[in-house]
Amino acid sequence: MKPILTACLALLLLSGCSPKVLTAQSTADGTRTLNLDASTSVATIQPTMYGLFFEDINFAADGGLYAELVKNRSFEFTLPKTGWLEPGTDKFSLNESSGKSDVIKIGEDRANSNYLRVTVMGPDYVLINEGFRGMGVKEGDRYDLTLAAAVGEGNISRIQVQLIDPDGAALGEATIDLNGSDWKNYAATLTAERTLDKAQLKLTFTGTGTVDLDMISLFPQDTWKGRKKGLRKDLVQLLDDMNPGFLRFPGGCIVEGRTLAQRYQWKKTVGPIAEREYLINRWNTEFDHRPAPDYYQSFGLGFFEYFQLSEDMGAEPLPILSCGMACQFNTGELVPMDELDPYVQDALDLIEFANGDVTTAWGKVRRDMGHPEPFNLKYIGVGNEQWGPEYIERYKVFNEAITAQYPDIVIVSGSGPFPDGEFFDYGMQQLTELGTELVDEHYYRSPEWFRENATRYDSYDRNGPKIFAGEYAAQSVAIASPENKNNWNCALSEAAYMTGMERNADVVVMTSYAPLMAHEEGWQWTPDMIWFNNLQSYGTANYYVQKLYATHAGTDLLRITEGGEPLTGQQAFYATAAKDATTNELYIKVANTGAEPQSLNIRIAGAEPSTTATVLTMASDDLEAVNSFAEPMKLSPIESSVNLQKNELRVEVPAHAFVVYTIQL
Ligand code: AHR
Repeated sequence: MKPILTACLALLLLSGCSPKVLTAQSTADGTRTLNLDASTSVATIQPTMYGLFFEDINFAADGGLYAELVKNRSFEFTLPKTGWLEPGTDKFSLNESSGKSDVIKIGEDRANSNYLRVTVMGPDYVLINEGFRGMGVKEGDRYDLTLAAAVGEGNISRIQVQLIDPDGAALGEATIDLNGSDWKNYAATLTAERTLDKAQLKLTFTGTGTVDLDMISLFPQDTWKGRKKGLRKDLVQLLDDMNPGFLRFPGGCIVEGRTLAQRYQWKKTVGPIAEREYLINRWNTEFDHRPAPDYYQSFGLGFFEYFQLSEDMGAEPLPILSCGMACQFNTGELVPMDELDPYVQDALDLIEFANGDVTTAWGKVRRDMGHPEPFNLKYIGVGNEQWGPEYIERYKVFNEAITAQYPDIVIVSGSGPFPDGEFFDYGMQQLTELGTELVDEHYYRSPEWFRENATRYDSYDRNGPKIFAGEYAAQSVAIASPENKNNWNCALSEAAYMTGMERNADVVVMTSYAPLMAHEEGWQWTPDMIWFNNLQSYGTANYYVQKLYATHAGTDLLRITEGGEPLTGQQAFYATAAKDATTNELYIKVANTGAEPQSLNIRIAGAEPSTTATVLTMASDDLEAVNSFAEPMKLSPIESSVNLQKNELRVEVPAHAFVVYTIQL
């Protein structure tokens, strides 16, 4: 028998106490005794447990993660000159003495049918792109400018490209020499002489006459992994730092579209970038209080890039597809059942695109994009936030077709927009009866709801579907209220709730906070996990809670109890414990949502802990506190350590705190 165990047994016998007395909840000084059994794995914690939900909302893709600095680079917005300025050519005063531009459309059947015809009559004519609420450029960094041009009548021979500040002063420039009347691609590199968040791109022409322009693009060279025309490095870094188990994309409601025509169609987002068809972003007009008329999807960040990003981060890709139902909060447009085939085929083709041999039609597209190896897709989602019999009957068709051809692919179904009520009950019952494998649940609820529902999954049928908590976030005011804040009250309540997810890791196998990202000026929905502007980004308190869970997930759930009961909010206290079989580390996560500190004596049985625990603490007495650009780490983990006394971890958990203890076993 191990010496420590022998000592415990001796203590037991000497004291004449029954084991029950030893596990009593608190001592006279208020110290609570928790018992942790490290010898038995209660359940496997799936590597997918903590992941990411990405949606192009709040300018998360164009203007955000996708590092393109030019807005409306190919003049495809509904108002095709959106984002482009021609100072001095106010068409209402007919002052076009120095030049003008006209959008030319070449057929409806082309993905990218517009280009710009510039007529230059004098040296003063300039064309300016305003960027996504400006362009963020950094001193000394290099920027790749590319454009397609065809010279027309006259003698235009050169374009000067400049980064300018709001006063028009240049902070970097290059020139492009044009040659020929046929369409050609041109490139130049600019170096920024200053750091500025509101730069613009200015084009000035040498000569007079006409020149046609298209795909005017500017990217930083310093992207994630240095990829040309790639992703914004600081934003991907924040995601990668979380060690996410999966990446769900492309949403969210954006999957469904306000109408079926505006649904997300993955096939239009792969292949050469210039051929990807623009689409209005459904968040463009969703909220009257946050209109975004300049919000479109260029799909430069498309399905290939999402798969690639998943691979970069070691996250399982989880694409969600339209099931033939437009957003039921909008039009609710339905594809008739006898016209569902193309939608189902999209799902089958996507699996081929991700996993198929390069000799298959879609596997070849993947190869041609530079990725002959498969992406090893394992999951596919059918529909986002659908409800009612219309969803179930469509889901059945998808389920049958996908399972017949790809029996190993796990199909994610949806239980609608709410975690309870008529839609949820109906959907869950139907999906359970169908024997569906994995059901997506969404809940945007008050912080109180999160604190009060840590036992939500305790009563779930162990033989029923597994759960993907695919979208959740505590709302400080109300769902989608523009006043919602990423405050400590919300983040701490989520931390408390998440103990319940982890404690039910046999049922809950995937979870993700939503939405993921928001541009400081361009957002529609709050709260969001990460905020950014044109130069900076920061993780919210919610981000650090998620990160602590994801980087201390463990592989095996352990039992941690007080008086034989799990800690689910008794005296505002929550706990969960896990072991990582690969590193042999023990993780104890506790949330104290109360206003008083809690003294704990955590007794670890069934393992030999090392003498020291690493402690990561997030705590604040100010429940309204938030991180910000000025104080990005205000609410973030503070590291310390504590010595164990034999097998006991004696600690005081501060008021309003989330703490993770790591102990090497
Ligand atoms: O996360 C924002 C939105 O909330 C998602 O697009 C949608 O699925 C949910 O209603």
